[in-house]
Amino acid sequence: MSILSDKHILLGVTGSIAAYKAVDLASKLTQAGSQVDVLLTAAAEKFVSALTFQSVTGRKTFTDADLWGGNAHVLHVGLGHSADLMVIAPCTANTLAKLAHGQANDLVSITALAAQCPILVAPAMDVGMYTSVPTQANIRILQERGIAFAGPTEGRMASGLTGLGRMLEPGEVLGASRQVLGRRGPLVGKKVVVTAGGTREPIDPVRFIANHSSGKQGYALAQAAIDAGGQVVLIHTQTGLIPPVGVQQIPVDTVGEMLEAVLAEAAGADVLVMAAAPADFRPKQAAVNKLKKRDGLPQIELEYAPDILETISNMEENRPVVVVGFAAESHSLIQNAAEKLKAKKLDMIAGNDVLAPDAGFAVETNRITLLFADGRQEPLPLMSKTEAAEEIMKRVAALLETTLA
Ligand code: PMT
Repeated sequence: MSILSDKHILLGVTGSIAAYKAVDLASKLTQAGSQVDVLLTAAAEKFVSALTFQSVTGRKTFTDADLWGGNAHVLHVGLGHSADLMVIAPCTANTLAKLAHGQANDLVSITALAAQCPILVAPAMDVGMYTSVPTQANIRILQERGIAFAGPTEGRMASGLTGLGRMLEPGEVLGASRQVLGRRGPLVGKKVVVTAGGTREPIDPVRFIANHSSGKQGYALAQAAIDAGGQVVLIHTQTGLIPPVGVQQIPVDTVGEMLEAVLAEAAGADVLVMAAAPADFRPKQAAVNKLKKRDGLPQIELEYAPDILETISNMEENRPVVVVGFAAESHSLIQNAAEKLKAKKLDMIAGNDVLAPDAGFAVETNRITLLFADGRQEPLPLMSKTEAAEEIMKRVAALLETTLA
């Protein structure tokens, strides 16, 4: 169950050309399992129709005409009270000003004023309007009141000008929505460091030793930690994946760089989850120039790479409160995972069979067995890497609570 499943989300859409992006956002939120009620201002209706939203959400779209309908006196109160989150995207300078000053003269602004849930605003306007003194003052007022902002970003605008004021893409607003919903999660106030992807150990300037890790499991863990309210640092190798909104990214290439980044971030961290596949062996020396075929078969001498988890676990200070490893095994999974749990002094290890076609490297699913320092073992069924990550983060939060109790 993702953080967006079974959530009631109000999507206020105001009059901007970026309203077309709100259709995709409504669709994405609905596909993620949320119940989405869309509210259009009169100006928004000029850009997109109520029917468009109704078609993607499967629910009635509300407009100002509903203000004067049969349930008029309770509609905005009802919506504002039952929602888990109100997102206003795109939000014009006019609606920002109304929100800042408690003006309520259309369904979106009335509902926002009555809302008991968190509000997330995704501004969209011309750069001059965005940077103007009144708009910036309104933003400050709203931020001080705890209203969350997603964007805007720099880019080409409807006017043809380029500047700050472009609404974020729907996926980014969705990510920001998860972050706001996560504010009630069990990892609020906790720093969570997650590693993802396989390292690349250079042989020469064009070749390296790598492995099959895609980073999917690690990125899913970072998202699950954001959903749980954590302050997340994602140390990752080159994966080509889009990082979850809200993470602090640290890109690395080699096991040496990953060790350095983990050591720097471990200080003050509450949780470390090593989902990455760092190298165990690496070339002792990378050739300065490209190795030539005509020079014969190269003799590449290997050395042991530093073990990041062992280094962290053996630290007298700065060891995160909860340290979690993964065990990538091709045989004797439980036995090997148990040995790693003990040798690396972990609180929990997730063993996965990397030879199974539906688990381990690169695929979308995983079948993990969790082993705990107190001897407990918990085999989990086949599930998506997203679900596996959510299960792991639930156990991490529980371990943190018992350790800190
Ligand atoms: O990235 P995906 O394609 O989604 O695949 C997910 C995964 C299979 C990579 C992941 O689920 C996983 O198993 N990650 C650990 C891979 C690994 O290196 O396993 P290991 O059994 O060799 O290492 C045990 C633990 O020690 C791991 O937590 C690893 O991060 C850590 N380690 C390993 C080597 C090293 N030099 N330093 C380490 O800290």
